[in-house]
Formats: sequence, C-alpha cells, structure tokens
Amino acid sequence: MKYAPFEIERFFRQHEFSAPYGISSSDCEPLTLDELLSYASPQRREQFETMWLGYTEAQGHPELRAQIADMHTGIDAEHVIEVVPEEGIFLTLNALLKAGDHVVAIAPSFQSLWEIARAKGCQISFWQQQQTETGWHFDIDELEALIRPDTKMLIINFPHNPSGYLPSRADFEHIVELARKHDVILFSDEIYRFSEHEPELRLPSACELCERAVVLGGLSKCFGLPGLRVGWLITRDGDIAHELQELKSYTTICGSGPSEILALIGLENWRALTQRTIDIVQANIAVSREFFGRFDGLFWADYPRAGTITLVELRSDVAVNDFAEAAVGEGGVMVLPASVMLFDGNYFRLGLGRRSLPHALEHLEQFIVDRFN
Ligand SMILES: Cc1ncc(COP(=O)(O)O)c(C=O)c1O
Repeated sequence: MKYAPFEIERFFRQHEFSAPYGISSSDCEPLTLDELLSYASPQRREQFETMWLGYTEAQGHPELRAQIADMHTGIDAEHVIEVVPEEGIFLTLNALLKAGDHVVAIAPSFQSLWEIARAKGCQISFWQQQQTETGWHFDIDELEALIRPDTKMLIINFPHNPSGYLPSRADFEHIVELARKHDVILFSDEIYRFSEHEPELRLPSACELCERAVVLGGLSKCFGLPGLRVGWLITRDGDIAHELQELKSYTTICGSGPSEILALIGLENWRALTQRTIDIVQANIAVSREFFGRFDGLFWADYPRAGTITLVELRSDVAVNDFAEAAVGEGGVMVLPASVMLFDGNYFRLGLGRRSLPHALEHLEQFIVDRFN
C-alpha cells in the first residue's frame, strides 16, 4: 500500500515555522499551558501535577470519555475511543475498508479522508462542492446519484474544511437518512463542530442519528488545543468499535497521560474555550470582509457560520499558485493555495482563528498593492 504525499502537510512542513506571517492556519489561537491550567479546578490541577506517567487505558481515560459522551446526546463513555485526530482517520479507513470497496467522499477535503481509501485500492466517487454567487453549496441529489448498491462508506466533513460550509439541519438529516437507507457506514469528520456562531446552528452529531456512523472529533481546532494531540472516535456499533480498537494496538496503543488530563480540563470548560474561538473568528471575519472588499472585486469570499476557515477566490489572471509563492517569497506571508488540497480553481484558504490575522493581512496588503497596481 503506497500513500501519495500528503500535500497540505508537505506545504505546512515547508512554511509553517519559517514564514513570518500566515493567513491560512485551520486551528484557533492555541492556548498556553498556563492559560489552560487557569481553568482547572484545584482537584484537576493536583491530579495533573501528581500524575503517574505510566501507560494509560487503551480506550482512553474513563473520565475523559465520559466528558466527551456528555457533550453528545444518547452517547455513553463506552461508545468513545480516544485517538490522535489524524489517527482516527487512519484507523477508520484502514479497519473498515478493503480493496475494491466503493466509497463516496466529500471533495475537496483533508487529504487523508480519501487518500487512505485510495491507497487501499478502493474506488472513490467524489461529492464535489459547488460555488454559487451567494456561497458554497453541496447538492444532495448529486450525492444520492453517487451512492451505488455496493457503496460501503460515505465520508463527510461539516463544518467543512476548506470552505467552512455548514448545511442546514434538514439537509444534514437528509444526508444521514441516505446513509441509513443505503446501509453505508457514515464516517463524519466533525473536528470543526462546537464552533457555530449561534448555538442553534449546531447540527446533531451523526453518531446521535445513525447507529452505523463513526464520528471523528478532537481538540485541535475550535478548542485551541492542537498540541495536546487528543481526539476521539464515537460509534454506537459494537462490531465497528471492536475493529477500531483492535487496530489502535498497532498505532498509538494508548493516549498520553498528561494530555488526557489537560484535555479533560479543556473539555470541562468547553463553552468558555469555544466562545473564545467564536469571538476571535467573528472579529477576524469583520477585518477580512473589510480587507478583501477593498480591492474592487479582486477577491470573492463566503464567510462561514461555523469553523475557523473559508476559501477566498482570487479573481485575476494571476494564478493563485504564483500568487501564493510570491506572497511567501516576497511578502513573507504564508497563503495556502487550494491546489494543495487538490481543488482546482483560483482559491486560497483563509484561516480565521488566529489573533495575528489582521497583522498578517497588513503585510499581505503591501504585497498585493505592489503586484496588482
Ligand atoms: C477535517 C480535518 N480532519 C482531521 C484533521 C486532523 O487533525 P490533527 O491534525 O489535529 O490530527 C484535520 C487537521 O487539519 C482536519 O482539517
């Protein structure tokens, strides 16, 4: 089995820690350890400071799993397996798919969500996002037409990376209903969930609606804690859970003890952490609207109602790959062209979660003025 290079990770490896400015990160402003500990109850703080640094429970810390279950309806700690988020994708696709299986996957998307299936020899049909003048759109009739009698898995990701698209509740329920009707495993990457700007926008989790769903969640994006490397898989299907847990013995075996307690502190305060994200994202949307609006139709964007990212279209003869290369080379600003997410067209990803975005845009401005005037 040979995996194609993970283009987005390759891009970040090259630029993330060397470019002075960036406008494309998908995480929200990470907390410092001090900041996170300031949320801890005295008992949790003591638990963290005096903890034993041994191996931990393979399925994940029971209190952490109970906390994650509490954030979902009708889910018990038993349904939760702690993973590193990216590991959750690796486990799900490797444990549940085999060569020749047919898979329908949302596109564009985080590459591992379909590349692992491709490398295993699965046949993949992509459910493509569409651009309309009013915003991004995914057509559900088109999805239904892609599902075949032998389809094994449907892979979705809402709020969506990279467009930030969030379907209506009715559309989401329709998607879940299609998975149920055609008896396919629904793999729902919900790593950007819990960052909806209004609570009523939050969709139910697929694992609440569908027994054969596998949900991926984690602390990396909207909770501002990517460095903990803590995420989770949730499924109510015992056979699927068994397969996932068995394969985990060949990846990380168990989680990192200190990260588990820190994750517990974060999730016990999830409302405060996600509100912090929403505040940063909303302030950055206001700045970005004003900024990209200033260039006379050179840019088009559909700002999201959830999540930390969106795509911006560069409406110019200048190819976005050249724009991005020059932005980092001449302007010191890392801009992720959508081609890195294997998406055609003149788009780049805008990350709305970092406090440094307004400052990075100021640096981008000088570069744009030099280039386009
Ligand atoms: C949609 C999606 N799923 C999963 C992941 C993996 O998260 P992590 O990098 O924290 O392992 C990412 C990271 O960018 C992502 O965007």
